Amino acid sequence: MRRELRRVTGAEQIGPYTLLRVDAGGLDAGVPGQFFMLEAPGRLLPRPMSVCLSDAGELAFLIDPIGPGTRALCSLERGEALHVLGPLGNGFELDVERPLLVGGGIGIAPLPFLSERLGGPPAILGFRSDWHAEAAALVPHAEVCVEPVYVTELLPDDLGDVLACGPEPMLDALRALAPDAQLAWEAPMACGFGACYGCAVEIDGELKRLCVEGPVLHGGTHGSPMSPLLHARGVNERSGAPAGQGPAPPATAVAVADAQSRNGARCC
Ligand code: FES
Repeated sequence: MRRELRRVTGAEQIGPYTLLRVDAGGLDAGVPGQFFMLEAPGRLLPRPMSVCLSDAGELAFLIDPIGPGTRALCSLERGEALHVLGPLGNGFELDVERPLLVGGGIGIAPLPFLSERLGGPPAILGFRSDWHAEAAALVPHAEVCVEPVYVTELLPDDLGDVLACGPEPMLDALRALAPDAQLAWEAPMACGFGACYGCAVEIDGELKRLCVEGPVLHGGTHGSPMSPLLHARGVNERSGAPAGQGPAPPATAVAVADAQSRNGARCC
């Protein structure tokens, strides 16, 4: 894990999303499913983003501009600089025999990198509109559906090894169908390295931090969100948040971060 000041090398529009490219410098891309904390210009807290592509000395992040932090990131231009911290968390385990990638919405963000590392396995992707589905071009060998059709309707009878990222209802459905699936969950994250408990969930009766124990978990191990930050945001609202990029921290997270920095805590 390193924190470096990196330059933006480009920003492309893909449907409603922005593919933000930064010069990797001395940063290791890590394992698909791991994430980086990106400094959001003008905002107190960085935003967690999984690596979408890693090639030619660049790291690329697919970002959905849903709030002030993500909009600030999407407005960055070539040559501008931002602090980048990572790689963080646990990524996907790559020793799988018959991988099937499943993604929903912005949850497809880690799948291009994952597909490249796994040799281009089949993928099933779902989006809310044709405009959002333009991002499917990033994932080779993808079967694509648009609401009201859902990815679960396209799954084969023999699922193989499912590796997925997407909105919580999609992951819950996959967990029921494939208990051993590797699922990338999301949570509001304030620090990204285990210091603030902003991303805590209950797993098998224990409180764990998704930024450290996850974000990729095996299907049967996910529990209920316990973080006061999640409850402040509302679990149902969180379900509608994009996967593949952590949702922006709620206002209470900023308050917690402010309090912690006033107390001299390291977080945020
Ligand atoms: Fe996980 Fe801070 S974001 S502990």
